[in-house]
Amino acid sequence: MDITDVILRQHAEQRRMFAMLEQFPRDDTEGLGALWTRLEIFLETHAEAEERYFYPELLRLGTGGGDADSVEEEVEDAVKDHNEIREAIRKVGASETGSDAWWEAVVEANVANSDHMAEEERQDLTDFRQHASLELRHEIAVALVRYEALKAATGITPVDKDPKRWIREHSPK
Ligand SMILES: [Fe+2]
Ligand SMILES: [Fe+2]
Repeated sequence: MDITDVILRQHAEQRRMFAMLEQFPRDDTEGLGALWTRLEIFLETHAEAEERYFYPELLRLGTGGGDADSVEEEVEDAVKDHNEIREAIRKVGASETGSDAWWEAVVEANVANSDHMAEEERQDLTDFRQHASLELRHEIAVALVRYEALKAATGITPVDKDPKRWIREHSPK
C-alpha cells in the first residue's frame, strides 16, 4: 500500500459519492439520508485518520509541495480545511433531509471538500511522495486504513482542531 495512493483513491470515492447524491431521487429522503450518513462517516474518519497518521509524518519530512510556502503552511491549511468540512457537515445534520436547506448544506460540504482535496493532492501528497520512503508510505497506509475500518460502522465524534496549536504540538522537536 502507499498512503498517497490510498488518499487519492479515497478522494475519488468521495467525489463519486457526492455525484451519486446529486443523481438520487429527490423525494426518497430515506435513501438520501442513508447515502449521506455513509458519506459523512467517510469524510469524518478520513480527515481524522489523516490528522493522526499522515500529517504528523508529513510535518516531519516535508518541505512544502507544489505551490505551498512551507510544510507548516500546507499542513496548517489542511487542518483548517478539515474544520471547515466538519462545519459544513454539521449544517447538513441541522436541516431536514431533502429540504432546500439540506441540499444547500450538501453543496457547501462538497465545495469545502473539493477545494481541500485539490490543495491536499497538489501540495501535501506531492510533498510526501518526494520525501517519504515507500516503507513509511506503506506503514502509514496500513494505520489509516485500519483506523477507518474500525470506525466505519459507527462513525466518530468529530473534533475540530486549532490549526496553529496542532502544528505546535506535532512539530518535530
Ligand atoms: Fe484527504
Ligand atoms: Fe484532508
